Amino acid sequence: MMHSLPEDYRALVFGASGAMGQAFVQALNSDPRCAKVCGVSRQSLPGFDLLDESSIATCAQALAAQGPFHLVLDATGALTLNGRGPEKRLDELDAPHLLNAFHLNAVGPSLLLKHFAPLLASGQRVIWGKLSARVGSIEDNRKGGWYGYRSAKAALNMLLQTASIEIARRRPLVVVAALQPGTVQSALSQPFVGQDALHPDESAQRLLATLDGLQPTGRAQFVDHQGQSIPW
Ligand SMILES: NC(=O)c1ccc[n+]([C@@H]2O[C@H](COP(=O)([O-])OP(=O)(O)OC[C@H]3O[C@@H](n4cnc5c(N)ncnc54)[C@H](OP(=O)(O)O)[C@@H]3O)[C@@H](O)[C@H]2O)c1
Repeated sequence: MMHSLPEDYRALVFGASGAMGQAFVQALNSDPRCAKVCGVSRQSLPGFDLLDESSIATCAQALAAQGPFHLVLDATGALTLNGRGPEKRLDELDAPHLLNAFHLNAVGPSLLLKHFAPLLASGQRVIWGKLSARVGSIEDNRKGGWYGYRSAKAALNMLLQTASIEIARRRPLVVVAALQPGTVQSALSQPFVGQDALHPDESAQRLLATLDGLQPTGRAQFVDHQGQSIPW
């Protein structure tokens, strides 16, 4: 399936307990070219919590011997935090809630880059795909609302872009992508979507095919499950 990666490539999936994470692990396990898939989450051993950098560092140390990795997929994220959903209006803004959204959706994933980018293979094509969201596009924001989640995803996109430039200096064949999976059936989306949401397996297949076709450009790319570019 991932024809662009070396034969016997090794993959790592963060958020393997979630709908998209599980779908990625399953899809990669059925790719005969994939030698190893490590799926990690808060519950796994080793595991990590996005809100605890030391757990991320320990997880990276524990997984170093399973690498180097050619494909890393970060499927973590949250829209409802501590039982509280996204803000619709300015008068719902609350500093701790906004900071929680940033911590989980932007800061945590950047710490995964900090500790796991050194485990990427050198001298070969490598891919870091992070589930972002179209609502993180500043240009595409026509509806408003969802202040914390939207702006956390926009911050995530900038962190990915900045990291991609640094990583590409040592690994020019790297592809870094901010991914929009579509509206997908999951615990995260369940309160907000209807029955027509995509099945996570379908979204994962489409995203993997999209990633497989991306060329290294030295910059991060923001793309959806249909392979279309999204304006930052
Ligand atoms: N579903 C959609 O329609 C949709 C649309 C656009 C973008 N996205 C993005 O796609 C990604 C995956 O979402 P999903 O729909 O698959 O949601 P999901 O099923 O709720 O999965 C979320 C994942 O994030 C993990 N996570 C949450 N808090 C964490 C923490 N503190 N430390 C470590 N892991 C943590 C969860 O782990 P636990 O199992 O331990 O909670 C779970 O593995 C997210 O980034 C989301 O923003 C989804």
